[in-house]
Amino acid sequence: MAQALESIPNNVDLSSDRRLQRALEQWQPNFLSWWREVGPEGFQGHQIYLRTAVSVEPDGWAMFDYVRMPEYRWGIFLAPKSGERKIGFGDNLGEAAWDEVPGEHRNALRRIIVTQADTEPASVEQQRLLGKVAPSLYDLRNLFQVNVEEGRHLWAMVYLLHRHFGRDGREEAEELLARRSGSSDKPRILNAFNEPIEDWLSFFMFAMFTDRDGKYQLSALAESGFDPLARTTRFMLTEEAHHLFVGEMGVDRVVQRTAELMAQGKDPRKEGAVPLDVIQRYLNQWFTLSLDLFGGEVSSNAADFFAAGLKGRFREDDQPEHKALSVTYRLEVPENGALVEQEVPLRNAMNEVLRDEYVKDCQRAVDRWNKTLQRSGVNGVSLRLPSRRFHRGVGPCATATFDPEGRLISEADYEARKGDWLISEADRAYVRALMHPVHERAKVASWIAPPGKGINGMPVDFEYVKPPDA
Ligand SMILES: [Fe+2]
Ligand SMILES: [Fe+2]
Repeated sequence: MAQALESIPNNVDLSSDRRLQRALEQWQPNFLSWWREVGPEGFQGHQIYLRTAVSVEPDGWAMFDYVRMPEYRWGIFLAPKSGERKIGFGDNLGEAAWDEVPGEHRNALRRIIVTQADTEPASVEQQRLLGKVAPSLYDLRNLFQVNVEEGRHLWAMVYLLHRHFGRDGREEAEELLARRSGSSDKPRILNAFNEPIEDWLSFFMFAMFTDRDGKYQLSALAESGFDPLARTTRFMLTEEAHHLFVGEMGVDRVVQRTAELMAQGKDPRKEGAVPLDVIQRYLNQWFTLSLDLFGGEVSSNAADFFAAGLKGRFREDDQPEHKALSVTYRLEVPENGALVEQEVPLRNAMNEVLRDEYVKDCQRAVDRWNKTLQRSGVNGVSLRLPSRRFHRGVGPCATATFDPEGRLISEADYEARKGDWLISEADRAYVRALMHPVHERAKVASWIAPPGKGINGMPVDFEYVKPPDA
């Protein structure tokens, strides 16, 4: 159970470690200044109907109530220890999981944790202006829910850094508050987290595709032999599910609105909605940017992380075996202007193995959106995932140019046609022009269908966000 009155709610018995508690209490005001400086702009005094993690009990972990965001109770919660946990994969398969960081894996673990941690505040920074143009109070609340929980995920990672990495860890924790999304001198670590998110279609695509990369990274870390990392990421995944829902259903509602207009023979552009080809370009852009987050197709780092027991596969338990030795993985890579098949040791293909799971999951969501199109009476057109070779900035496919079907094409061809495939300046300007705040109860912007149901059993037109003086 959480000790809810402590200044930092936690289930890690923080009060028994005075040094650690003091260090985190010193970091806390820095976190709050960061939140006020680059967190959601313009709503810090509003009362938001938010979910707060208060324990790790499966059916009582969350509490819903009105909260002012700076007063949100960011806590540290690790999933309960499951008996004598053993390392489930790699060279140390079957050995006892580690409660402390093994010296030989210290640098790798620090790098893994910092890279994950950096994405959490980055996304809050990217989304800080969106509240001003939210399409409904329901969406406004969901945005802030995602933002405060990304803040909590930063806390989760900073706890590991402070608790397990000594002075280096404390320095990393400071750096996490010093980097800024999109900054030229201190950017966030990963590319997709430096892209601006200025409109809600981008936000939904980000929550759908980029946060979903997070789900797979966290799932791989939830298998880690470093038990505190495994337990904290397990609990983060509970919150993450809502973020993915916000993204997938957000896009679904945009598709639904467009489809309803098309079915009536109307032009979405004339009705203040988003044309299907623009939705497709946003999808192409965010899906491919997010593919890069998995890293290169062939990676010795990925092999080392797996061998050491630091980062497993998605649902490692379901794998037929856990050493991944003497097995190979086949993939196609560009070489001298042609695609050639390459066979690599499975361990070196772990990034690609994780990406496979991710792509399947994304395809499932695209199928849902296409069902929405059909159900609304639109036939003969559909959305599709581009090939994973298209528009890559990382890995062998980044060395050549491909069309969305994955065919090798010349650079000149690519340049000539990329306006059909990726978000253009005109698209951006069009979508941005649709962004007007709808902050009245029971109303929703012209470009998106209302949600099917409300949050936590509340009605769709519930007052999810109240002004400061209400
Ligand atoms: Fe997160
Ligand atoms: Fe998230």
